[in-house]
Amino acid sequence: MSFETILVERKGAVTLFTLNRPQALNALNSQVMEELIAAFAAFEADSGQLCGVITGSGEKAFAAGADIKEMALKPAAEFFAEDMFAPWTSRLVKATRKPWIAAVNGFALGGGCELAMMADFIIASESAKFGQPEIRLGIAPGMGGSQRLARAVGKAKAMDLCLTGRMMDAAEAERAGLVSRVVPPGELMAEALKAAEAIAAMPPLAILANKEMVNIAFETTLDQGLLAERRLFQVLTATQDKAEGMAAFVEKRPPVWLGR
Ligand code: HXC
Repeated sequence: MSFETILVERKGAVTLFTLNRPQALNALNSQVMEELIAAFAAFEADSGQLCGVITGSGEKAFAAGADIKEMALKPAAEFFAEDMFAPWTSRLVKATRKPWIAAVNGFALGGGCELAMMADFIIASESAKFGQPEIRLGIAPGMGGSQRLARAVGKAKAMDLCLTGRMMDAAEAERAGLVSRVVPPGELMAEALKAAEAIAAMPPLAILANKEMVNIAFETTLDQGLLAERRLFQVLTATQDKAEGMAAFVEKRPPVWLGR
């Protein structure tokens, strides 16, 4: 599969997706979306791939938003008829059971911040900047910014960012709970790939179940979530990898995962 706006590299069991329009600060146009959807579908279908990392090319940006030049002349009826931006959630989030990490290297604004928040967690470089500046363009977030940001950082900061359009630096984003780790710019990719490799070294079915469990917390009541957690836990107890993991612990040897 060859792409023009993204790069896709397989590194062992980790797939690295790089947004590759540095001249436009990796702005997300429809071609990027189509290519990412195809690349994510291939990642999801490949049993040898267990974790993804997404980043932006160039020093400056993860992604500076949806492509303003593409949106500027598009009539409202087309945004509505095409349900523009819906596939980001349905294909990258809902259809992707394998975990993926956003390695945010610079500006993550508008759709860029929204894409980073679609990832299972964010590792940021100290130079990262997050924001939902859509209001300054006379619009508002349309790829989950108001919803995922409010869940990640709470109402006060989500309102502050959406209503003022200001940017938040990596330290503030970490304090607010938006990112899981902040590292010096030169260490970002090594850190993100190391995290992805650590995940990819886990038993494959447990990877899927752990991701699914945490996501249920954002969709349901505590009681329903606790029930779903127990059921997924109980499902895992029937796997050969559970028998192997526990036997390896008792026998003081490294486990060999079978993925079943
Ligand atoms: C298209 C973009 C772009 C974008 C930057 N560029 N962001 N092109 N869409 N979102 C292009 C610029 O036009 C310019 O191209 C080149 O990238 C470099 O950008 P500069 O502005 O020259 O860089 P700089 O001065 O360093 O400023 C960086 C910046 C600024 C602060 C990030 O580019 C900026 O404010 N960008 C827009 C951020 C934004 O509003 N994002 C939200 C978009 S709306 P040329 O050809 O001129 O050199 C959105 C909606 C989400 O995301 C979905 C719901 C509707």
